[in-house]
Amino acid sequence: MEFKKPSEYIPFSPPCMDGREEEEVIATLRSGWITTGPKVKQFERAVAEYAGAKHAAAAFSCTDAMLIALHVLGIKEGDEVITSPYTFASTGHVICYRRAKPVFVDVDPDTFNMDPEKIEEKITSATKAIMPVHFAGHSCDMDPILDLAKKHKIKIMEDAAHAIGTEYKGRKIGSIGDITCFSFYVTKNITTAEGGMAVTDNEEWAQAMRVLTMYGISDAREIWNKRYSKAGSIHHDITELGYKCNMTDICASMGIHQLEKLNWFNEVRKKYAEIYNKAFKNHHGLQPPVIKPYTKSSRHLYPLLLNLDYIRIDRDSFVNSLKEINIGTSVLFRPLHLHTYYLGLLNHRYGDFPVAENLFERVVCLPLSPKLEESAIHKAAEGVLYLLEKHKK
Ligand SMILES: Cc1ncc(COP(=O)(O)O)c(C=O)c1O
Repeated sequence: MEFKKPSEYIPFSPPCMDGREEEEVIATLRSGWITTGPKVKQFERAVAEYAGAKHAAAAFSCTDAMLIALHVLGIKEGDEVITSPYTFASTGHVICYRRAKPVFVDVDPDTFNMDPEKIEEKITSATKAIMPVHFAGHSCDMDPILDLAKKHKIKIMEDAAHAIGTEYKGRKIGSIGDITCFSFYVTKNITTAEGGMAVTDNEEWAQAMRVLTMYGISDAREIWNKRYSKAGSIHHDITELGYKCNMTDICASMGIHQLEKLNWFNEVRKKYAEIYNKAFKNHHGLQPPVIKPYTKSSRHLYPLLLNLDYIRIDRDSFVNSLKEINIGTSVLFRPLHLHTYYLGLLNHRYGDFPVAENLFERVVCLPLSPKLEESAIHKAAEGVLYLLEKHKK
């Protein structure tokens, strides 16, 4: 099989911006107010409306949004939070930051998401919340999770870092659980460089989360942009032990315009995913991602599974070979229970979550950003097929 490698490296997930973000950032820089202020408020309203929630609290990152969400849900030492091992550090870390215990449930081999059938056996009297992770933008099957939460009177806090724009049975992610958190990190479907947001229908929680982003200063968000003006109060009161994880107006300025383009971004991602699907269809060496009928995926990732019986090399060598032919990829995720910290903390071992472990050994996430030209996606697909042929058993 002939393959001419691309002259330039195809990056895994470059951000997609135009002059609108630039102009808004410059306007903010010139406005005299650059940290948390009117732009953050505007972005919060826009994200809440987009996601079908009544309120939002912006934060420095999704990690921070999830931390303040668990805080207002009252998660504390001795509590257990059920979640997926097939996730990023943040999901487990925020539970540990609250001194609670992450309890993992193995995932479904098609969706990489927590298998709802395996959740109930993990519920104990200490269980206070379930944290579904919508991996790659594919929604978790929320109905059984909602039923369990209702039956056992526990909260649902969704890690929707990958899932802005995702729908579950026609409902936007953000309008389902008690609190849902999005990420605007640079590789995400929309970006503010760094950023996150918690959305909820509960006004009290939203207000409490905003306060928590500013040290727990009771009226921080209200006084902060007046503080240095003539009308500003010289006093403030700390009502609880908050954090410092507010979003700046500079970041929100990017977010406002990214959000306007989100539906289009997600359409392009879908088109690119379909290019890969077509190229890989019926190939014995590959298993393209499965999209269940209950979800409309944001297509944050294209997690392609290798059939390791088909090739002579392992996934890491395959990824390195892709790099050599100028195709950037990412391997998401090494399951949390296999990391040194969690192995020690939870006494887990290899074999505890066999589905998650098997997916991790075979996964390669291909480039999907709308910043990339369609030709780059065709090239990446060709590169995968070329290497499969080259390394076939
Ligand atoms: C599943 C998941 N949750 C949470 C996060 C954390 O997002 P942030 O970088 O905005 O804190 C990420 C980031 O990559 C993620 O992939």
